[in-house]
Amino acid sequence: MKGVILAGGVGSRLAPLTRITNKHLLPLYDRPMVTYAVEALVDAGIGELMLVTGGMHAGEFFRLLGNGHEYGIDRLFYAYQENQGGVAEALGLAERYVGDDGCCVLLADNVFETPLRPLVERFAAQEKGALIVLSRIEEDEHLRHLGVAEFDGDDRIVRIAEKPAEPPSRLGVTGLYFFDAQVWEVLPTLAPSGRGELEITDVINWYAGRGELEAEVVDGYWGDAGESIEAYYAVNDFVRARHG
Ligand code: G1P
Repeated sequence: MKGVILAGGVGSRLAPLTRITNKHLLPLYDRPMVTYAVEALVDAGIGELMLVTGGMHAGEFFRLLGNGHEYGIDRLFYAYQENQGGVAEALGLAERYVGDDGCCVLLADNVFETPLRPLVERFAAQEKGALIVLSRIEEDEHLRHLGVAEFDGDDRIVRIAEKPAEPPSRLGVTGLYFFDAQVWEVLPTLAPSGRGELEITDVINWYAGRGELEAEVVDGYWGDAGESIEAYYAVNDFVRARHG
């Protein structure tokens, strides 16, 4: 399975910090944010990674990660996202790298308390389709900033609602996704959303519509440090308490 870390975007919710650097290079406690995503995938047994980034500060990722060996990565690939077309557009840049393999996609601003290896192993055993990772969240206000799973009577996911005014469940979609090679057929069919981006949620809903979507609810802390300045500091507090 190939790993893909998505570290592009404008990071507008963390402006003006993100006017001078890429969001994923901002500090989480004592090191740049993206290194936590790298560490999480390497610890999960993923040795080959592609980092997708863009914008004015892409070169800093080379300075930080280099050839990846220092971080335990066997082979590190980079792709440059020329436009700011969203998560699904960024993923499209990894197509030739991933090829016919399955891929594990992690948004570089996501921090998980739980080790990711069991999820990687679960998807490796899954014949086809996609696997998404959910986190139980109690506050409606928080769920309104995320993708939220909607279930039918048999506890199957019918669809994901992206940033819903009325959250259909308490299960938010984290930024960790697993896709089979069908994803490359889905991406070209997407149309930009209201925020002008190609949404990963539309990809997930394609799998849900075909009955090929699996989901796992994770325990422990999960945070998206790019969600807001409050979320950024909440993730910092968590990381500091764990490593400090
Ligand atoms: C993206 C996804 C959203 C998901 C979130 C997790 O949101 O669109 O479904 O819940 O990541 O980090 P974004 O951060 O691009 O607004």
